[in-house]
Amino acid sequence: MALARPVVIVTRRLPAAVEEALQASFEVRLNPEDRQYTRAEIRDALVGADALLCTLTDPLAADVLGAGRWRARILANFGAGTNHIDLEAARVAGLVVTNTPGVLTECTADLTIALMLMVLRRLGEGERQLRAGAWAGWHPTHLLGRRLTGRTLGVVGFGRIGQAVARRAHHGFGMRVLACARRPIAPEILADTGAVAVTDLGSLLTSADIVSLHVPLTAGTRHLLDAGGIGRMQRHAVLINTARGEIVDEAALAAALHAGALGGAGLDVFEHEPRIDPSLLYAPNTVLLPHLGSATEETRTAMGLRAVENLRAFFRGDAPPDRVA
Ligand code: DGY
Repeated sequence: MALARPVVIVTRRLPAAVEEALQASFEVRLNPEDRQYTRAEIRDALVGADALLCTLTDPLAADVLGAGRWRARILANFGAGTNHIDLEAARVAGLVVTNTPGVLTECTADLTIALMLMVLRRLGEGERQLRAGAWAGWHPTHLLGRRLTGRTLGVVGFGRIGQAVARRAHHGFGMRVLACARRPIAPEILADTGAVAVTDLGSLLTSADIVSLHVPLTAGTRHLLDAGGIGRMQRHAVLINTARGEIVDEAALAAALHAGALGGAGLDVFEHEPRIDPSLLYAPNTVLLPHLGSATEETRTAMGLRAVENLRAFFRGDAPPDRVA
């Protein structure tokens, strides 16, 4: 008699190759309509399945994970960031948590550089003007932006993505790169990325033309860039955020942009996604993208397959490769 396969509830629609891989190993409940799960639906899923393959849009805070008799034993998160999961509550509830690090590094770094170019070269403005039929033709003073090549980049957080951004900026655009991290950065990493370590965030903020954020969201990094930090940046400086919206005090950022105290911003993430603070929508020199950092066929498939690997290892009785709790 064949053993029953573990039941996996998949909370969002995933690339086809990932859904097929899941179906090959598990009894899978997919979400073809791609509707976001409510708190109650997550709790039902925890009761009805052996595992959840979840994403950053799922409410997995302590009030949802706590005080239940769950059948589920693992949350395999599709994504590197696990700030939407209360890891301590998961531990208390007996849930293993895994993520998908590494596979989204290159695409997120690519998008970070794209945002720098969009802001400095005014590419969004140009495209909007052309599509609105407002382009009167080439002229020498049309939409003059600023050169990216040769500028000073401050990278805050020097994990995989921060390093990949530094490598592109230094080797591709001849930029001087300053890097600030919680722990000392190994000399071989500095050599490879062309970065210079700075020990305090304040001096990075005052020296950089562009500041790019690459720290995870934790209690310690929430509003890491607040009004005081933004105030230390140069008036022409540009802030890039492809990490998590809550790392920046958005109201303070919008105020600085409107006051001309900051040169611009390129944001792929927001404090209250998908709701965007209206004052950011109308802020000058600002490019806003809908959390697209890892959004390529290759990366989203790799993320999904990594989550499948974690589930397979767990249900084989092995240690999942990307266990975070
Ligand atoms: C992650 O992996 O946490 C990303 O934000 C998803 O794009």
